[in-house]
Amino acid sequence: MINDLWYKNAVIYCLSVGTYMDANGDGVGDFSGLMRRLDYLHGLGVTAIWLMPFQVSPHRDDGYDISNYYEVDPRYGTLGDFVEFTHAAKQRGIRVIIDLVVNHTSDQHEWFQQARRDPHSRYRDWYVWSPKRPANANSGVVFPGVQKSTWTRDPVARAWYFHRFYDFQPDLNTANPEVLTEILKIMGFWIQLGVSGFRMDAVPFVIAAKGPKVRKPVEQYDMLRAIREFLQWREGEAIILAEANVLPNTDMEYFGRDGDRMHMMFNFQVNQHLFYAMAAADARPLKQALVATRSRPATAQWGLFLRNHDELDLGRLTREQRESVFAAFGPDPDMQLYDRGIRRRLAPMLGGDRRRLELAYSLMFTLPGTPVIRYGDELGMGDDLSLPERQCARTPMQWSTEPHAGFTRANRPVTPVISSGPFGYNQVNAAQQRRDPNSLLNWTERIIRMRKEVPEVGWGDFTAIATGDPAVLALRYDWRNNSVLFVHNLAGTPREISFAVGVVGDSGNLLINLLSEDHSRAQAGKHRLVIEGYGYRWFRVGGLGYLLQRSEV
Ligand code: NOJ
Repeated sequence: MINDLWYKNAVIYCLSVGTYMDANGDGVGDFSGLMRRLDYLHGLGVTAIWLMPFQVSPHRDDGYDISNYYEVDPRYGTLGDFVEFTHAAKQRGIRVIIDLVVNHTSDQHEWFQQARRDPHSRYRDWYVWSPKRPANANSGVVFPGVQKSTWTRDPVARAWYFHRFYDFQPDLNTANPEVLTEILKIMGFWIQLGVSGFRMDAVPFVIAAKGPKVRKPVEQYDMLRAIREFLQWREGEAIILAEANVLPNTDMEYFGRDGDRMHMMFNFQVNQHLFYAMAAADARPLKQALVATRSRPATAQWGLFLRNHDELDLGRLTREQRESVFAAFGPDPDMQLYDRGIRRRLAPMLGGDRRRLELAYSLMFTLPGTPVIRYGDELGMGDDLSLPERQCARTPMQWSTEPHAGFTRANRPVTPVISSGPFGYNQVNAAQQRRDPNSLLNWTERIIRMRKEVPEVGWGDFTAIATGDPAVLALRYDWRNNSVLFVHNLAGTPREISFAVGVVGDSGNLLINLLSEDHSRAQAGKHRLVIEGYGYRWFRVGGLGYLLQRSEV
């Protein structure tokens, strides 16, 4: 049913509370501040907010190192503020999903502290230990250049512990049933406080077999079913959006062949090939990635994104492909990270070029899946490469030309605001863009509105249409006797293409442009289209509006 499975056509917006809006003036964003910005988000048209970790944490990995799963970090507010926030979001029809970071805890977590101090503690087996240095201690490092190994000796425990990520993030022993029970308890807790699901961190590592003798970690997929089942018992419409950067041939293991595991996964395959396609002005590798990730259960959905809070991971591309993305979008070594990615934000990567930004966004909104926007990208915010690692793309939201971009009235925000250059807050901020009908912000608002009127993208199946030009991607979606067609020119020069829409009957002879008056009528069954450099078109096939033609919902 079109009104069920809300995530099939949601517009998700991700943000971290600490850098969004500071209401109490201490230099850190908080839930009260975020609440004041809910009308902004409602106006933009987002239907779900994904909150990055906000639980108690020493903040050595931006909150992905949690030391208490059942409390809000005091710098962001209280549990009371959190519940006020989920309530206020609900009043506006906005759902909230939160990060679920259970591959590891912070080393400051009480569980780890007890585990290391006492070999007989009930928490000892909640982590992964080895009496001596395992042979594979140097393999499987996730942050090369910053992280040295995956096993570290703890002098208190007099043993080595496993950490897939930084050494202050000891892995939980997820094979221990008590740990799984605790994970479910954490989920149940936040569900009870009003969330509609979770963005689950590092899923392949959560379900991997862990231990000193493990050479190649094997995924324990059944665990995903147990988690899903519990969630659905507690809250029928809650979802899990999995962070799993995996090869397409294991996608169905994560979704579950019967659709009984993860509801959603980020499409990393499409993400990387999308950037390569833009760098090379060649749509073919993107098309291949779309075909490779086509299969998914009817109830599942892809999360489509351009940039997120991490580096743009290009690890799945060939070396030549990766080099060409580096050359196009991140040529300086300082823009690159972990030997595999680019740490910049989207707008500077695309040279602040409005045509390319619109192209990238138009693709994100029309490729198969549900779009996930990163806060500030609706304004074209930039990065601060003087900040270490991934921090460069996590600067505070730029609201206005007031001091510190209107983010805080403190003398010094904890994370510095971008204040100079073409992406400084005097140039890029929400207040000015709100008043300018041609701003990127208002463009994004309009494109979101239109995206909601093409539910075929979320529900339908796609066909790639031959355009005769490798730079031009044309995708048609069919669903319930309705079809829509999207054309994107990845090249910077105009292209003339000719194509048949390929639907049965004569409805394909008319293409109604959804964004301008520039409609298209076929001559002898073929449409001829001249599309400008980096141009894009959104068409409804056949002309009769979706709302008029739609028979049953
Ligand atoms: C993936 C998150 O996206 C990243 O930011 C974090 O550092 C690691 N998981 C560890 O939690």
